[in-house]
Amino acid sequence: MGEMARKMAGPKVDELIEDLNRAYADEWLAFFYYKTAAEIAEGLNREIVAEKFSKIADEELHHAEELAERIGQLGGEVIKEFDDIKARANCKTVKLPEDPKDLEGFLRAGIEAEQCAIKVYVEILEKLKSDIKDPITFHVIRHILQEEVEHEDDFETLLG
Ligand SMILES: [Fe+2]
Ligand SMILES: [Fe+2]
Repeated sequence: MGEMARKMAGPKVDELIEDLNRAYADEWLAFFYYKTAAEIAEGLNREIVAEKFSKIADEELHHAEELAERIGQLGGEVIKEFDDIKARANCKTVKLPEDPKDLEGFLRAGIEAEQCAIKVYVEILEKLKSDIKDPITFHVIRHILQEEVEHEDDFETLLG
């Protein structure tokens, strides 16, 4: 852990680490549900929808890695139990449709999940603008937020 990194983030560094861990949990759940969507989606345009879910899932996993790295730099520890991932996530589920041929249902679930993620990252950024001054975490979160906005747009485009 970086002593200077902790000092830079100020007295609320542990609150920040918890926020980052919750977002980390969200990313793992998004990865899981998106890969599952890619696996189970059926029907005429299955290929294009599955490909999109799979590609975005990989980006969510990368977000989890970026968050984990920052948590470590701040002297925190990432969540180690899957039960904890589920319990501490902000966006606890991606509501995949019952019918595997309901491709629109998959895309709507993706959009809803991205909107939840966007809300979470906007809230973290707001904190980083006001009472937790940490330009490095700000940069990491801003970059992730930008990709979540692109994900929402990607799903919306496919939904038409
Ligand atoms: Fe993400
Ligand atoms: Fe996303």
